[in-house]
Amino acid sequence: MSRVENQRRLFLELVEVLRPHWRRDPGQPQRLADWLARHRAGSRDRRLYRELTYTLWRILPWVEDADAETLIARVAHHAHRTPATQDFIARYATASAATPPPATALWPEWIGAEFPAGDDIRDCLLSRAPLWIRQQSEDDAAVRRDFPAAEKSAYLPQAWRLPMDTNVVGAASYRSGLVEIQDIGSQALLHALPHLPAGRWLDACAGAGGKTLQLAQMLAGQPATTITAHDIRPRALQELELRRRRAGQETITIRSHPEGLYDAVLVDAPCTGSGTWRRAPHLKWTTTPDSVRRAAEKQGALLAHFASFVKSGGDLIYLTCSLCASENHGVVADFRTLHPEFAPQPLRHPRTGENLAAGELTLLPTDLDSDGYYVARMRRN
Ligand SMILES: C[S@@+](CC[C@H](N)C(=O)[O-])C[C@H]1O[C@@H](n2cnc3c(N)ncnc32)[C@H](O)[C@@H]1O
Repeated sequence: MSRVENQRRLFLELVEVLRPHWRRDPGQPQRLADWLARHRAGSRDRRLYRELTYTLWRILPWVEDADAETLIARVAHHAHRTPATQDFIARYATASAATPPPATALWPEWIGAEFPAGDDIRDCLLSRAPLWIRQQSEDDAAVRRDFPAAEKSAYLPQAWRLPMDTNVVGAASYRSGLVEIQDIGSQALLHALPHLPAGRWLDACAGAGGKTLQLAQMLAGQPATTITAHDIRPRALQELELRRRRAGQETITIRSHPEGLYDAVLVDAPCTGSGTWRRAPHLKWTTTPDSVRRAAEKQGALLAHFASFVKSGGDLIYLTCSLCASENHGVVADFRTLHPEFAPQPLRHPRTGENLAAGELTLLPTDLDSDGYYVARMRRN
């Protein structure tokens, strides 16, 4: 059996491992990682199987009931061509795979009621996510040295786009904390706040600290300014501590129990991730109206809980990486009905500069070529 024939055989084995979970388990990337570890796949094979699997998730309705030959042909046809995939594609991507069923089948029907997207946004969410980094110093030189093909964003000063398969974590600038991997849409959210107040900040759902580090950089030099980072997951906070040290950010303090009142509270809430379907296409098939409803309930409770840490005159900022109205405007509208002391504060669109007086922004994946996000800003009167 030739090398690509063996890769085909192994990929079909992986397909059968994942098949029972396609429409059930949001944790499938971990199953893929476990399978790769079990098979001791080398780095090039890992890249191949990852690309084939992510392509399969992206086009699931086109392949889930297909016979093995059609499945392989369609996945190979739609996979991104890289050094790791090129032989597989050359061998198995056949012309007959080029005429699949209509593209609308790749968009779950229920999402129309939550996010009525046009063709351009659907096409964008079907494409592979680009790779963006955030520069954590004022000096472009390190980025240009380590990533000669990097392109600086025309809209955000610290954002650089890299070729998809760039090894960022192996670069000296990454190891010394001069750059972090962060989607440009995620970076753009803090730039949508026209003014970042000085004082005490609470990043209530900090996770591993993507936005905490960015916030620290943007607040640098503001007098008497500190950031308390909190999350329910201790392991994420450990990772944040490593990143904090790497970036040399002294203003960040990690707390498992935040206390007192803050000038600004950031609630980057856990969500269905429907804005991240380019990066996590399996979520298209595991998210349901019911999981959206459950996410919205949890988000409402978190927002109300962390709102109690905002001092009078302080800001409450709510963020998600979802495009679902129930998790975004729905949560904020319900919150404001119960808490009329919080009034919307204007935002600025990070691409167009438009003033958003209603204090809400849905950042579309097409705005900056990113994932999709939502941000709302309110102030306690
Ligand atoms: C969207 S992620 C945060 C991403 C992070 N802010 C970043 O920029 O990388 C949501 C986070 O909320 C955390 N979370 C979930 N429930 C929580 C709770 N009750 N209190 C605090 N954090 C919670 C999760 O552990 C997860 O890290």
